[in-house]
Parts: sequence; C-alpha cells; structure tokens
Amino acid sequence: MSESQAIPVAELTQRQARAEHKLLAAEIAAADSAYFQDDQPILDDASYDAKRRRLVALEKAFPVLKDAASVSDKVGAKPSGKFAKIRHRVPMLSLGNAFTDEDVADFVQRVRSFLGMKEEAGIAFTAEPKIDGLSLSLRYEKGALVSAATRGDGEEGEDVTSNARTISEIPHVLSGDDVPEIAEVRGEVYLGHVDFAGINERQREKGLPEFANPRNAAAGSLRQLDVSITAARPLRFFAYAWGEMPVMPAVTQFGVVEAFKRWGFRTNPLMKRCESVEDLLERYRLIESQRATLGYDIDGVVYKVDELALQTRLGFVARAPRWAIAHKFPAELATTVLEAIEIQVGRTGALSPVAKLRPVTVGGVVVSNATLHNEDYIRGFDSKGERIRDGEPPDIRVGDTVTVKRAGDVIPRVQSVDLSKRPANSQPYAFPTLCPACGSHATREMNPRSGKEDAVRRCTGGLICPAQAVERLKHFVSRDALDIDGLGDKQIEFFHADPDLPVKEPADIFTLARRDAENFKKLRDKEGFGSQSVAKLFAAIEDRRQPPLNRFIFGLGIRHIGETNARLLARHYGSFEALRAAGIAAADPASPERQELDAIDGVGPTVVEALVQFFAEAHNEQLLDRLLEQVVPQPLEAVASVSPVAGKTVVFTGALEQMTRDEAKAMAERLGAKVAGSVSSKTDLLVAGPGAGSKLKDAAKHGVQVIDEAGWFSLVGG
Ligand code: IVH
Repeated sequence: MSESQAIPVAELTQRQARAEHKLLAAEIAAADSAYFQDDQPILDDASYDAKRRRLVALEKAFPVLKDAASVSDKVGAKPSGKFAKIRHRVPMLSLGNAFTDEDVADFVQRVRSFLGMKEEAGIAFTAEPKIDGLSLSLRYEKGALVSAATRGDGEEGEDVTSNARTISEIPHVLSGDDVPEIAEVRGEVYLGHVDFAGINERQREKGLPEFANPRNAAAGSLRQLDVSITAARPLRFFAYAWGEMPVMPAVTQFGVVEAFKRWGFRTNPLMKRCESVEDLLERYRLIESQRATLGYDIDGVVYKVDELALQTRLGFVARAPRWAIAHKFPAELATTVLEAIEIQVGRTGALSPVAKLRPVTVGGVVVSNATLHNEDYIRGFDSKGERIRDGEPPDIRVGDTVTVKRAGDVIPRVQSVDLSKRPANSQPYAFPTLCPACGSHATREMNPRSGKEDAVRRCTGGLICPAQAVERLKHFVSRDALDIDGLGDKQIEFFHADPDLPVKEPADIFTLARRDAENFKKLRDKEGFGSQSVAKLFAAIEDRRQPPLNRFIFGLGIRHIGETNARLLARHYGSFEALRAAGIAAADPASPERQELDAIDGVGPTVVEALVQFFAEAHNEQLLDRLLEQVVPQPLEAVASVSPVAGKTVVFTGALEQMTRDEAKAMAERLGAKVAGSVSSKTDLLVAGPGAGSKLKDAAKHGVQVIDEAGWFSLVGG
C-alpha cells in the first residue's frame, strides 16, 4: 500500500494499526535483508523510506506496537555469515531522513530547542553529499591500518580488512603529526559511473549477472572472499565520520574532516559550512544541480551540527544521531504508456526485454526505453520468485500505464503498473522461447544446486546467432583458445562486416586465403592491410589448422566450459569425435554416455547440461561439420605421456625469474601436468621461487615435494 492510498494514522483503530504494522515490519525486514545481505534490493529507496515513515508514524500513534525488537530501531540486517565478524566499539548508526524544506527547518528547530538555544544565537552545520555506496569503518593503531569492517547491523559488521587494503584510496599508514594512537575513520566505499559500466561490461562478457547499480556493484566487489576480485575493481572511498577516537584532531565536524584530508584520505570537495536553514537549502540545491555530472551516485545531502561539543550534548535516538539528518533527493519518477516490449540479444545470448515507452521526461531527461530486467520481472516476480508488485494479476502488459524510475545514471526501469488503467483487451506478455536474432531455442538454465531456474533466458544458437557471433569469433581466436597471431578483436570486427571477405563463423577463418585468391578485390589493397601483413596473417591461420584439442573445445565458447573443463574433457575423451558422440548420446539421461560424463572428476552437472544442450542444437552440428573440414584438433595425450610431470598436480609460487607465471603454467600443461592455485594433499610438486610464503608451509604440512625454478628446468629438461 503506498502512503498516499493509506488511511491517515489518526483514523486507524488499534486493530487496523496492529495489522498494518505487522505487515510493514515484515516487508521492511525482508527489504533490509535483501539490501544488506544479498546486495539485491527488492524495494526502491522511495518505497522503502515511505514504509519506514509509515511504520514510525504508527508506532508514534500506537506506542503498544513498539516492542524491543521493533524494526524501526534496527539498522540494516545481521551480517551474512561468510566473513569473520568485527564488533564495532562505537556503533555504526544510520541517519534520519528529511524529504522537504519544511522537514529541514523542523530539524534545525529540534536541534535548537533540544539545546535550549535563544532566538538570536547562531548555530553552524555542515552540508555534504550523501554518497550512495556502503559504509566502512577503518581502524588505525599508531597510524597503521589494522582492520576494516562493514556496517552490518550497526553493532557487528564483517571483517573485510584484506579487501579494504586493496583500495588505493584507503591509506595503509596515515601521514601527519596529529594522528592519534587509535583512530577509527569511517566513510563510504563507492564506484564511479565509468568504472561501474566497465565492471558490468566484463560481467556481460563472462556471461555473469550484471549489477543493478553502482552501490550493489561496490558492495559485491568489497565483500569478496577472493581478495583478487576486490583488487580488480576500482573501488573508491570518501572519509566523513569516525568511530573510536579518544583524542580528537579538531573541535568541529569540518575540522575533523580537514584532518582526515591531512592524514591521506579523500574527502568530499562539496562539503560546506552553513549558518542557517536557507544556507543549507541553498547548498542542497547546488549539490542537486551537480548531481548528474559528479560521476558517482549520491542520493541526498547530509547536514550535521558542526560543533562536536554540541553533537555530544545532542546524542542519539535509537538508530540515528539527533545532530544529523539526510535530506533525500526525490526519486525521479514519471508515468507513461508501455507501447511495446522488444527483446534484445546480448553477446552471451541473454534475452533482455526492453520497454518501448511513449516518450516522457524523467528528471530532465527524455526517456523512451527502459529495462524490464527479465521474464520473471514482467510476470511480477523477483529473482527469488517473490512477488514484487501488489495487485492481481501482478504482470506488465503492452498498453499498460507504467511508472518509470530513473535514478542517477542508472538505466531507467519500469517500476510499477497502474492496473486501473489497463485496457480491457490486454493480453499477458508471452516471452519468446525462440531467439529473435537467429531462431534458435532460448532456454532458461536450471541451477542444479538450488533447483531453480535462472532468471535469464538465453539463446542456444551460439556461434550461428548473429547477435553473439562477433564476440564468439573473438573468443575462438583469442590467446587461450586458437591463439591466431594478427587476428585480434579489430580484425574480427572488420572481417565480420566485410562484404568481400566475410567471416561469419569459425570455418570462414580457414577459407580466408582461398577466397582472397579467388576474389578480384584483394585484401592487400584494403586500408590497414599490405601484402606482408596479409601473408603473415594467412600463415598464422595455416599454423593453427591442428589446434590442441583442449584449446579447440575451449574456443567453441560452450557455456560453462572454460579452460579447465575443456582440458578435463580433452584429456578424458582424447578426440573431438569421441567427445561429440558422447555429448550427443548423453542427451538421454539414462545412457551410459551420460553416466560416464557425470563421473568425470571435476566436471559438474552444470557443465554436463551445457554440453548436452550444445550438441543437441542442429545449428551447432552443422557449424562443427563445416569447421572440422578445415581443422583437425590434436589430442593432448601425444605430448603428455612422455613427460616426467604428466598427470602430476603442480603449484607455482613466489617469483619466477626465467619465465612468467603464464608461461610456467602453459609449459607444465603442455607437459601434461595439472596446475593448481593452492597446495593440498593432492599436490605432487611445489615450484617455489624467492618470496614464497604460506604455500611452503602448506607443502610441509602435506609432505609435498618442493623444488626451485632451476630444479624445475632440470626435471623437465628444458
Ligand atoms: S554520516 C552517525 N555522512 O548514509 C552518522 N553518512 O543513511 C554517520 N552516508 O550509514 C553517517 N554519505 O553509509 C554520513 N556524507 C555522509 C554520508 C553518509 C553516505 C551513508 C552512510 C550511513 C548512511 C545513513
């Protein structure tokens, strides 16, 4: 129920209030858990705030409803369990919200009357952007970073120290001569818009789900058990608050933030000291006017009483300080008509529904396209299968009057439907089960672990789907696949679009030279090519007519079949024909071929399913036939069996001097060894260079043989 439709609190009976309170509390708890633990919000900020406001209003009018466990006192949700916990010595609190100018005037008035200030007495505040990221508490002892914790439920957060250390804007050691013995600096971890787009692009390329917004991407990037993932994400940090700080470096909010800057933190340049409500509102409007060009998401302006002595006197109420408030920006919403639903096919084959809207201005920008996320969203369900829109039926149909939301730079989304305006003859939207780009089946994978369907429907056309072809071709020739010199992304794009010498599928690469010879218009005469470079390119292609089987399998870009799985399959089946026969026969779940496939060590059910689906597509069969007329994949065994490390599991650690880590890995694999990232009882050999650390200890623990780089070369005779 939205606030405007709700009965005024004063007119409710206690029974009604109790019922509504119970519902709201459950909705808020679910939204908190989705937002804080899963980084997957199920409510937009405006609806969430409205629900919280209504809950607080109910509790104010009916104090019996407020018990010790009331969600109105809670901040966020309990930490999610995968990280160690850190108890905050000073709780990490939240902020109350102001939505109107009047709310701001009320806030200032509340502060003044709480402090018993006279009419004429002045009071200073700071005003600064409210960064839309996630808060982090950094503990420094003697100037050195010792721990980093997320907010969690405000009392206890997650230990993300190693992750935080990878963020370049978080100093490992503080500079300056006024750094206290103990200093807990708090602030916001966030992602810039450009970096966010880059991360999603890479997610797309890898066929992984994209993040809904920079905040979720920042949270997902920070809370990674694999620190190298955090390190690869350009997270940023603004310092604006503190926890334990026995000796303060200044007597005002502004002064402390200036000290943070001296100590090596980034602080927000838009922060300003203000002397009155008018000043605050002026700052608010200025920051709001710059919102679109800041390059990062903000969702309001935070006002804080400047003088720390006054902050102390004001203290806290339940979940928020009395001395600060967040003045939120209004959500950018508009109502329009959904004229059509168009399906776009992404590079990994994902079918994405796009709403074609009657153009409407949302927050100063004309919007005519908006995302509808996926099939379930149109049907009215979120990723967990929970209903997300009220009303029966909860789906979205062409012809519907819809609300569109545009938040910051994020792609606009269709948020809700006005069912009262639904045309009588409207029909539920039938999501296509065939790819609109190539006509192949589009299916939803079953996650074998959860037993649930993936929300994304994907085209199974693979290489024959034009929407996917270019990216797949790039993959086919890439370094870890066929590795064709001189045939990079640019050249693939060129040939894919070239009318004289088109490359539409892998087989076409191997007929380039022949076709060019037959053509009147020669490649060597085209811009960017010359006789020499054409000759080199054709030679590089010839050189790859007998690719190693594992690289060939990997190059096909079958879903879920990365380098490791490709190698396992290559080793197990020995030839592509054997793998293909097994893949086709395994379509029958009772077949011995399926059992054999299921039993391969390291090959999981998702991979088996993907393989079976790949070989079940007639298009893929034809494409493979054409490709195998051109190339002859070479089994792995031929090179592997004679080597002293064949079949062994090897780990490399420390600095290698004569080869890069990639080279070492490739060499070991060429010799038939399996290269692992960590030492376990299954490891046969640890090759340790200078600077090797914990892996040496692990090797000792498991009785694993350790040699150095020279030892490696003498062992493999190279
Ligand atoms: S001050 C005790 N300042 O907003 C007050 N918070 O809704 C501590 N936030 O948990 C918070 N920008 O994650 C403060 N400039 C800013 C902020 C900010 C973003 C976040 C922070 C906090 C949440 C409260």
